[in-house]
Amino acid sequence: MSADTTELNRQRYDFSGIESIWLFGYGSLIYKVDFPFLEQRPAFIEGWTRRFWQGSHDHRGTPEAPGRVVTLIEQPGAVCKGMAFRVSPDVFEHLDVREKNGYLRLDTTLTFGEGGQAKGLVYIATEDNEAFLGHAPDADIARQIASASGPSGTNAEYLYRLAESLRALGADCPHTFSIESHLRCTAKKDISGH
Ligand code: SIN
Repeated sequence: MSADTTELNRQRYDFSGIESIWLFGYGSLIYKVDFPFLEQRPAFIEGWTRRFWQGSHDHRGTPEAPGRVVTLIEQPGAVCKGMAFRVSPDVFEHLDVREKNGYLRLDTTLTFGEGGQAKGLVYIATEDNEAFLGHAPDADIARQIASASGPSGTNAEYLYRLAESLRALGADCPHTFSIESHLRCTAKKDISGH
């Protein structure tokens, strides 16, 4: 599959007659809300877990030195907390470009923090996309993040802002928090010259 999923996503759904739709964000969509929305609510989806397994060549890294950003991996019984936004379908004109490096807009069922469920969409970079990097030890992921930077800023900023947002949502994400600890150690070592 081509890493640029813009066209694939555009062809995926016919939004005619739909006024608004829920979008579930679990990564940068939680804290970098550069799109208009009608409503936002903390929510979770089931059966998926957040992992820094997707390469970023266009936002938090470069083609020569890709960064690592999150995608979702199927895991029975897992719960992934994030933020749901009710958006007008024209918002996807912008978001499909923003999320073009391997992410597909897939159907999901969201459960809201305060109760109730709704059908919605979620951007997931599946294992068959060209930018998928997959598993690596947390310390190695942290080292890669520490040195990566791209047009949207440093990869470290992506991770720190996500970790902060997850804490604010009361979301326990041991994977993200472990990489965050490794990253803080790497940053301290760099400052002290060790
Ligand atoms: C998301 O935030 O829902 C998708 C992944 C990202 O843009 O970081």
